[in-house]
Amino acid sequence: THTLYLTRHGQSEYNRLRKIGGNSGLTSYGLEYARRLAAFSEGTICREDGTNANKARLWTSSMRRTNETAQFIPHPQVAIDGDKWVQMSHRVYRNLDEIFAGEYEGLTYEEVAANHQDEAFLRKVDKIGYRYPRGESYYDIISRLDPLVHELESYHEPTLIVSHQAVLRLLYAYLMGYDREDSTKIAIPLHTVLKLTYNGWSRCTEERVFLGP
Ligand code: G3H
Repeated sequence: THTLYLTRHGQSEYNRLRKIGGNSGLTSYGLEYARRLAAFSEGTICREDGTNANKARLWTSSMRRTNETAQFIPHPQVAIDGDKWVQMSHRVYRNLDEIFAGEYEGLTYEEVAANHQDEAFLRKVDKIGYRYPRGESYYDIISRLDPLVHELESYHEPTLIVSHQAVLRLLYAYLMGYDREDSTKIAIPLHTVLKLTYNGWSRCTEERVFLGP
């Protein structure tokens, strides 16, 4: 089986302040999640059963919060566990970065609603197509995810992807066979790993593992 593990970064300073975008680091809660994610990946992901047992790939975005979230996962060193290889090779992809909010980076949603009412309305009526001033839309993310999805689907090792809510909404909807138009409102919770397994059909089966704190 081919299993993908999707997770957002741990709680960041901007999450705590409810600000959009930015490149902040993790809060102490976020760091605790990073430690738990490392334990989970060693204890569970690297021990997935099957013909490709004990091999997993690690992909993160290029942002500070995802790299801090992955920092305790042992990679890229290769360890030998009994007669089996345990390998997490880390790749950093800008294509996995969060939606870029352009001129609205660093604002709160309340500030956008109060000071940029027309833009907030446009986003409300067409969230997938709405492009932030000098920033991105969800459609822009779809185009930059396209090559990654092709790469992902040619692999047969478990892969752990540490990315961001907007990006993971689209990946998740694609893998689960949901309409992308509906995907922009799906809640992808923090501190939770979504385990998606290809089942031979057009969509994956899903399991969620909340790691806390
Ligand atoms: O922090 C940004 C979010 O991940 C994107 O959420 O597209 O619902 O504003 P949104």
